[in-house]
Amino acid sequence: MDLPDPVKGAPDWLPPEAATFDTVHDAFLRTALEAGYQRVRTPVFEHTEVFARGIGESTDIVQKEMYTFQDRGGRSLTLRPEGTAAIVRAALTAGVPRQAALPVKYAYAGDFYRYERPQSGRQRAFHQVGVEALGAQDPVLDAEIVLLGYEALRRAGLQEVTLRLNSLGDREDRGPYRERLNAYLDRFADQLPPDVAERRHLNPLRAFDSKAPGMPEIMANAPRLIDHIGEAAKAHHEQVCRLLEAEGVPLTHDPLLVRGLDYYTRTTFEYTAADLGAQNAVGGGGRYDGLAEDLGWPERFPGIGWALGVDRTVLALQGAGLVPEPAPRVDTFVVLAGEGVGQEAFAAATALRRAGLSADLLADGRSMRAQLKAADRAHARLAVLIGPREVAEGQLTLRDLGSGEQRSIARADVVAEVRASLEP
Ligand code: HAM
Repeated sequence: MDLPDPVKGAPDWLPPEAATFDTVHDAFLRTALEAGYQRVRTPVFEHTEVFARGIGESTDIVQKEMYTFQDRGGRSLTLRPEGTAAIVRAALTAGVPRQAALPVKYAYAGDFYRYERPQSGRQRAFHQVGVEALGAQDPVLDAEIVLLGYEALRRAGLQEVTLRLNSLGDREDRGPYRERLNAYLDRFADQLPPDVAERRHLNPLRAFDSKAPGMPEIMANAPRLIDHIGEAAKAHHEQVCRLLEAEGVPLTHDPLLVRGLDYYTRTTFEYTAADLGAQNAVGGGGRYDGLAEDLGWPERFPGIGWALGVDRTVLALQGAGLVPEPAPRVDTFVVLAGEGVGQEAFAAATALRRAGLSADLLADGRSMRAQLKAADRAHARLAVLIGPREVAEGQLTLRDLGSGEQRSIARADVVAEVRASLEP
């Protein structure tokens, strides 16, 4: 029987890369939690309409990338391709808009699924950490969110992060603009790739996203939405830019940035990392003031957020040679120095672990040399050596694996002695 292949585009994470993954994940999440965002979780699947309505019928995600299936009860479910629509759905289900204390600030992390063509940095299963602030339209909140994502990426260790910012205005501003854009696209009707030609009547903005040959050149001269947004959206955008510039955040204004999801209004942004090639967006987000209504809520319930890609950030760190040194697997290794001491060694390791200290041992009868080698591979700082003579005398030997110094300690003091030796 052959071993089953892993699913294409769905990577496994094993040591030591899995530790880097966790470091990045924790840096993102901690940045959000320390800014007062609170953890939320939603299921990995939703009724398909949550994403179809939320993300938009004209997007690549909804048209060709969703993992959609029927469950045994005949419902159409979809594995979440992103978090925002699901989290807004959860907040609406819970009646959050009727709550007194708004905005609510949420943080989330999880696996997401898109049936994309796999390549470096583009997977079918990937991990995001995200934030969503719901129930306020204050530009200070936009600046907070944009800055928070930037800080989270820096905290994860990325040194060169570019932040591109745009405003897509309010939906009410879009009607006349869409007509203008479609009139412009009419001039190139025979050059448009089939997907743009098909989708531009659903949403001509998608044309800005197309990487088909010739399209970026056509779109470079297209009328820009930012030149046609309303006064309120414009004032909002200027305020967001002012706040960010005052904090020294390096901004690149990108009037062509539309992002791949249809729910965005006003502030939209993307973070890119150097050294990542084509898939260089490590995160992105924006405001989505009409999303709650798209999902069926009777009133406007604004929101803004971002999601950062953990997998891609790890790739960017690897590409830039910025992967942090692995943390020691354990601080202390318990070493069996002779026969018949397995139980004592197990007791010592258990005492250390119960006291919250990290410890490991290898009690399968291999030589002391082999055990010390394993201690070295674990980057352990201390070894607790246990031999038959020590057991008879109620003693243990504590060895500093850096300096090689060692001394006898009372068996009963092992926890206190190890703890004291590990203190800086
Ligand atoms: P997104 O730009 O589709 O936005 O995804 C955010 C990040 O997730 C990307 O910048 C990338 O790092 C990572 N990512 C996306 N797709 C893949 C993939 N196929 N393979 C590897 N990494 C990937 C959203 O998902 C929005 N929900 C963000 C948001 C939150 N907007 C408002 N709130």
